[in-house]
Amino acid sequence: MLTGADWWKKAVFYQIYPRSFKDSNGDGIGDLAGIIEKLDYLNDGTPDSLGIDAIWFSPFFKGPEHDFGYDIADYCDIDPRFGTLADFDRLVAEAHRRGIRVMLDLVVNHSSSEHPWFKESRSSRDNPKRDWYIWRDGVGPRRRPPNNWRNHFFGPSWTWDEATEQYYLHSFLSQQPDLNWFNPAVRRAVDDVVRFWLDRGADGFRLDVPHVYCKDEQFRSNPPFYRRAKVEQKMPFGDRPLTITLFYLFGLPEFQVKLFNQHHPETHLVLQEFRRTLDEYPEKTSIGEVVSENSQITASYYGSGSDELHMNFFFELAHCRWKAGAFRRCVERWERLLPEEAWPAYTFSNHDIVRAISRFGGGRDADARARLLALMLLTLRGTPFIYYGEEIGMKEVRLPRRLLLDPVGKKWHPFHRGRDGCRTPMQWSGEPGGGFSAGEPWLPLGPESERRNVAVQENSAHSLLQFYRKAIWLRKERPALITGSYRSVVEGVPGDCYLYLRESEGQKLLVALNFSARRRELELPQKYLPSRMLLSTDSPRPAKANARSLSLGRYEGCILEVGVRSSQEGALLARSS
Ligand code: NOJ
Ligand code: CA
Repeated sequence: MLTGADWWKKAVFYQIYPRSFKDSNGDGIGDLAGIIEKLDYLNDGTPDSLGIDAIWFSPFFKGPEHDFGYDIADYCDIDPRFGTLADFDRLVAEAHRRGIRVMLDLVVNHSSSEHPWFKESRSSRDNPKRDWYIWRDGVGPRRRPPNNWRNHFFGPSWTWDEATEQYYLHSFLSQQPDLNWFNPAVRRAVDDVVRFWLDRGADGFRLDVPHVYCKDEQFRSNPPFYRRAKVEQKMPFGDRPLTITLFYLFGLPEFQVKLFNQHHPETHLVLQEFRRTLDEYPEKTSIGEVVSENSQITASYYGSGSDELHMNFFFELAHCRWKAGAFRRCVERWERLLPEEAWPAYTFSNHDIVRAISRFGGGRDADARARLLALMLLTLRGTPFIYYGEEIGMKEVRLPRRLLLDPVGKKWHPFHRGRDGCRTPMQWSGEPGGGFSAGEPWLPLGPESERRNVAVQENSAHSLLQFYRKAIWLRKERPALITGSYRSVVEGVPGDCYLYLRESEGQKLLVALNFSARRRELELPQKYLPSRMLLSTDSPRPAKANARSLSLGRYEGCILEVGVRSSQEGALLARSS
């Protein structure tokens, strides 16, 4: 197991969406016992396994699952669909035994409306827990909502409670009322939850939407957003001009600048308190899901670099255009913005966005692009997060509307098909149920599951899965790829290639990525020669010793060790003669 206060800087993380990873009892829903069965696949201590060092689990706590785990009714218990607290203890023990750390999802911007806290809060205006949530009177004789805030899923942020004749605030579904973070009792209660899991062996938390915790105390309305719609993430199949126009016409209120209902300064104080609690325990970490169009704001959640979140996802990289320069500029902007001590974290996919292999397109080249992305993810300076199934190139699954379960696609959004397509069951094998479940899976398997699965890729030396394994295990042996410095190389590099050096004491590695569908010959400066090929996305790569130049195939990426005399066939670059 990686140890030391900064183990998370060296780790490769893997995100598991528990409903979809492995079902142990045939009810079609993934569970903790199923995950335990598959821990060896993730890391059995040998290069025949993926070799990841930590898992972030999307929530498996008790709740009605209106938002599939992100609406929690008991923060300190496991939902029976997934198992029991005893299963959790076993999961932690089994994961730790394999050197895998355990990160939990802390979803405390809101609870479920079925949480006893909210039930009490809504029971009467003078209940002691009334102020644990955000209640407001209606405005004017028609008792209109207190302001124009819209929730993140489409629709107003306010729901009227008949019994007590007030509105309550919810930044997501009405079944997800927002907690009142200005109330010290709420802070204490959440702190207890954090300690509960740390005491039980959790190694840290992923924080769900921390930027939404605190809102404007005057509840001012947000200004409208008249600019052309910036569709933040490419919608799977729906970002067509007509739908956007319709969205404009009928969904105008949605287009507002979320000025007063997120990124409140008080949130930083909350995160500092949270960090102090984590720091009381040895070797704990955190990562935030802060979303902002302004990367400077996103970076601010690192605080000074060591007093708020340990890491924060930088989603801009995931949403970059398929351009070498766009990726390079994105990484460098983030490197520039982060405070001195801060550590980047990158991901290309998660349970909310279209799977990267589908999002970055490429048609028949999608797999080659997926390899290139994998290599970039695993060699940038920062902690990589892999989303389950990404290692076998699982694609976004287009489901018919009648099968959609995610509230975002089902009823809340006029054109968004929701997030089910990236949450389909892990494709373990070509058997019925995909090796995921002996029963009927809760969401259908992807149409490619018979061909694209772990079993097939385990038996193919050049599969994407084998490439991930090689890259991850290679990373472990090369400190330059982990803690080494980052510097991009632009001299002699064509615009559709992205090259960077990772350097640590006595070790200099050059990562070269070709984002184009054409072969590229790079005339590299003498100082990068001679070099030795350590890994290529095109392995086995035809040996090509060509003095002074590096030849990259279409969408090829590779890692070269600089300053090492090239040897037999592995050699790519020869010393200029
Ligand atoms: C962000 C989570 O990633 C998403 O799945 C969820 O729906 C919202 N937060 C609300 O908790
Ligand atoms: Ca199950």
